[in-house]
Amino acid sequence: MSSHCRGDHAEAEHGAALVHAAQLAWNRAPKTCRWPQADANPPPLADAWPATGESGAGSCASYHGLYPLLRVLGLAATPDRHAAFYADALGALAGSGEHRRVLISGTADSGMLEHVLRAYRAVGTAPVVTALDLCPTPGLLCQCYAERVGAAIQTAVGDALTWKPDRPYDVVTTHSFIAKFAPAAHRELFARWRALLRTGGRLVTTTRIDPEERNPGFSPERAEAFADTVCQALAPEVERLGIDPAAVRPIARAHCRGIRSHAVRSEQDLRAGLEAAGFAIERLDLVVHRGHVKAGSSGAGTHRTATYADFVARAR
Ligand SMILES: C[S@@+](CC[C@H](N)C(=O)[O-])C[C@H]1O[C@@H](n2cnc3c(N)ncnc32)[C@H](O)[C@@H]1O
Repeated sequence: MSSHCRGDHAEAEHGAALVHAAQLAWNRAPKTCRWPQADANPPPLADAWPATGESGAGSCASYHGLYPLLRVLGLAATPDRHAAFYADALGALAGSGEHRRVLISGTADSGMLEHVLRAYRAVGTAPVVTALDLCPTPGLLCQCYAERVGAAIQTAVGDALTWKPDRPYDVVTTHSFIAKFAPAAHRELFARWRALLRTGGRLVTTTRIDPEERNPGFSPERAEAFADTVCQALAPEVERLGIDPAAVRPIARAHCRGIRSHAVRSEQDLRAGLEAAGFAIERLDLVVHRGHVKAGSSGAGTHRTATYADFVARAR
């Protein structure tokens, strides 16, 4: 088989895995999603969920059930936009041979896991991964992905602010997790991450920076515009995905209304917070990512134009 064919095959398999995840999340989230009421980021109030009607206040189903579909449609802001950064930063840690124990601290689906496994496989090694989330649905998606690619992983359900592993990690990584917390809680999160790492361990992540952001919520009109965007993108894919746009519309609306995203105000704030928590910043790249979703119809976590800080911090 030529390398060209191998490339095509890998791409087709990756596409099939994404479609499988979108269908799995859509079908299972109404039953598996559970987001404690008392978390730092109020859960979405899903209006309804097709067929089951099980999702209500306190469920994150309109988030976890839709995110992998948004990813297939190119509408989610995923770790894929930072692929080169993760490959480089995680690859260097994989290559060192001293950073095998990896914690994914919050993950909506298997997206972050894919980048971790890829970086370690590229240097011929396998990480010992734990995927942690408040809700069991991301763990389910991660386990399915891991089985598909022949990797063994652990999953955990818990709050990153209180969850305690039996021993510290060599690497903590995630994507856009800081923004799940209001700015007043960012320093508490950094301190928790420091406690989850051994001295010399690394924090590898990316977060949105926006000095102007004042209101992290989205209006009903904006949610309707987002739902329009999702339904339009889904229409030509209905046969391939087997997901009905009419059922998706209220969930897309709830998804947009339910998610809060709190940008870090400045690079200086980020640096100061990390340093105060016991980190030394080894690398910090400010990168502007152009989005597919227009400003007037985007929500938190959608593929919109934004500035991110991609960074690696060492636990002192
Ligand atoms: C990592 S963030 C951003 C999603 C991201 N774009 C991705 O690629 O996974 C979202 C995830 O964090 C989880 N989460 C929010 N607060 C949390 C907490 N305190 N502890 C653990 N997970 C949390 C949510 O359930 C959600 O799955």
